[in-house]
Amino acid sequence: MSDEREQAKWAAARAASTLVESGMVVGLGTGSTAIKFLDLLAERVRREGLEITCVATSEGIGREAGIRGLPMVSGFPDFGPVDLTVDGADEVDPAGNLIKGGGGALLREKLVALASRRVIIVVDPEKHVPELGHTFRLPVEVVPFGWSRTLEALEGLGAEPEIRRQGEGFFRTDQGNLVVDCRIPGIPDPASLHARIKGLSGVVETGLFPGLAHAILTGHPDGTWDLRELKATGAA
Ligand code: A5P
Repeated sequence: MSDEREQAKWAAARAASTLVESGMVVGLGTGSTAIKFLDLLAERVRREGLEITCVATSEGIGREAGIRGLPMVSGFPDFGPVDLTVDGADEVDPAGNLIKGGGGALLREKLVALASRRVIIVVDPEKHVPELGHTFRLPVEVVPFGWSRTLEALEGLGAEPEIRRQGEGFFRTDQGNLVVDCRIPGIPDPASLHARIKGLSGVVETGLFPGLAHAILTGHPDGTWDLRELKATGAA
């Protein structure tokens, strides 16, 4: 990844880390921008004695939070309301709808987002696209049982699906499920496509996050950032 892009991600993560206040339950997103946020948040906890508890959106980010000494909510894997979630995205359209799941954590990311009073999406400028599906394939989590039939059903909706692989085998989510990456050139109505895919037997979740972000925080390579507030509908 280019240095410029890395700097932009750091700028977004830095700005997001200043929005956390003592007493908050914080949702920790997954991905390379979210982990920068985690680093900066852990630094604030150490330096300022910020008192927070965290909910992780993946086993991986939970481990990273533990390594950095961040306190996690008790009773996990269940959790109550989350005050603020900071997470990345793979694509953002002009209305603030998202594609997520590049890291395979889409299901937990969505559950945490749905439980959050405020969801801030931290991105670099390259994540902004005129329409979802422009650059990124839509990840869909499916159960392993009968996966090739589910692939056919996705084809029936006009997608070009490909099962995600890792090494010699299939990529497995934290739930032990599979991910199908679907090429769909242009998604003008993310909420309706999400509903159609979610209605297929064998599908657990889609990486479409329509109306779930409360704000998009875009970092820039020169260290500046901008925050765009949205009207989240929490519909997904
Ligand atoms: C994880 O499953 C994804 O939803 C990430 O949030 C997304 O891939 C973010 O990517 P970055 O690594 O570019 O932050």
